[in-house]
Amino acid sequence: MGADEPGGERRTLVAGNWKMHHDHLQAIRTVQELGLRLDPGALARVEVTVHPPFTDLRSVQTVLEDRAIPLVLGAQHCHSDDAGAFTGEVSAPMLARLGVRYVLVGHSERRQLFGQSDAQVAAALRAVLRHGMVPVLCVGETAGEREAGETEARLAAQVAAAADGLTVEQIAGMVVAYEPIWAIGTGATATADDAQRACAHIRARLGDLSSPEAAAATRILYGGSVNPDNTAALVAGPDVGGVLVGGASLDAASFSDIVSAAATVRRSSRR
Ligand code: PGA
Repeated sequence: MGADEPGGERRTLVAGNWKMHHDHLQAIRTVQELGLRLDPGALARVEVTVHPPFTDLRSVQTVLEDRAIPLVLGAQHCHSDDAGAFTGEVSAPMLARLGVRYVLVGHSERRQLFGQSDAQVAAALRAVLRHGMVPVLCVGETAGEREAGETEARLAAQVAAAADGLTVEQIAGMVVAYEPIWAIGTGATATADDAQRACAHIRARLGDLSSPEAAAATRILYGGSVNPDNTAALVAGPDVGGVLVGGASLDAASFSDIVSAAATVRRSSRR
């Protein structure tokens, strides 16, 4: 996978979700600046992905290759079919052909604003796997569900709907992002304890669907108003394998500060 370290541990993952920001020229500038700013020492300990809009992918891929910038290319969404009459959609094989390695699946904005169902999320996840890429399955509760004490049930249902039936290897190799919907783009972050508890709960549910050993290998990220100041505390949770960053990933300075902060966390007992 390239994510494993010699000791069998997984590198911390910092993923930048650009959403519908940055045209391809801005994207080129941003990754060039990231190439200059990212600390090589931090990059040895942290795997960093960027997930630009579809129109930027080819340009970003070319810049990363030409300049040997050690960022990994990601995408934000894909359709579950390999080809067909699906106006406006992009398929997993198209992304794989562009060198995309990670694909977000079931981001809450896709679920809430574009009506993506649990079944569609499960099918898209399988398309990503079928084409040799790594799905980043996004799950999370609404503010209402949280207030009603339904967070754990919601996370368990979303994880089961997407991951039931996957092989133990597929579960071990995938990434899950815990993104409480009330924390996305709001400036309100889950506490490090809440993030750890939710990630541990997700890991336990993945263990029920596969094996505890497989689930121990799955990288589980926290996402929702991550910034350079809160990263280290969030990533310190033993079940938190990194962060999925929206707004703060658009700016090369703040994103590289997040990567450096994530790299400061000692990982001796990490999953
Ligand atoms: P945010 O977005 O960091 O802007 O809150 C996170 C996400 O939606 O992935």
